[in-house]
Amino acid sequence: MEWQRFITHTDLYGGMTRMGAALRRASRTPATYQLRVESCKVAAMSVGIEVVRAISDEVTRAITRLLPQLSQSAKPFDEDALRELVAWKCNRLLVARVDGEIMGALMLVMFPIPTGMRAWIEDVVVDEAARGRGIGAALTQEAVRLARADGARTVDLTSRPSREAANRLYERLGFELRDSKVYRLTNVL
Ligand SMILES: CC(C)(COP(=O)(O)OP(=O)(O)OC[C@H]1O[C@@H](n2cnc3c(N)ncnc32)[C@H](O)[C@@H]1OP(=O)(O)O)[C@@H](O)C(=O)NCCC(=O)NCCS
Repeated sequence: MEWQRFITHTDLYGGMTRMGAALRRASRTPATYQLRVESCKVAAMSVGIEVVRAISDEVTRAITRLLPQLSQSAKPFDEDALRELVAWKCNRLLVARVDGEIMGALMLVMFPIPTGMRAWIEDVVVDEAARGRGIGAALTQEAVRLARADGARTVDLTSRPSREAANRLYERLGFELRDSKVYRLTNVL
């Protein structure tokens, strides 16, 4: 496993960003304001984002824990399947460690096509116990940084409207809704 980047979130950082969001919401919903200010008091935490190069038992256990929190229909992953996935040329599996423990994951997929290098972000998930502390944002921003460094012209992702937190996160990070239909052929196998 190789450290790609180390991001430190302190009370101050979390406090300031959360306070800003809380203040923006305060005019509409005072109760929410109070709740968010409360969350400023969480202990300092360090968040490290890394690209998984080799699958360990720890990574397998973390993905096994996180996957059902992303999709209830997702099939369980074993170590060999994960190894294959990480070895795939276009894939990069990013994980977020909070105080050393894997609490989130994201898959960055990059591939060249005639119109340029493209990047897709897939399967973003943060452990329920750690949501709302900027981990999803840190994972996504690191994926965008890696995609940009490797010459991606665009970074795409999809998210169901019912995934409210995810949609809010992506819009806040600058992702724009495209005027394009998304098609899928199912039962291909
Ligand atoms: C989407 C997800 C990855 C965001 O992770 P996160 O670490 O909470 O992200 P952030 O802390 O950066 O916050 C993202 C936004 O979601 C909001 N949020 C966090 N938890 C929330 C919750 N339980 N309900 C509603 N909103 C929530 C945060 O307030 C924040 O918005 P804000 O900055 O405008 O206040 C996480 O909620 C998740 O894993 N959801 C289930 C799987 C999923 O939907 N994945 C996306 C697939 S497209």
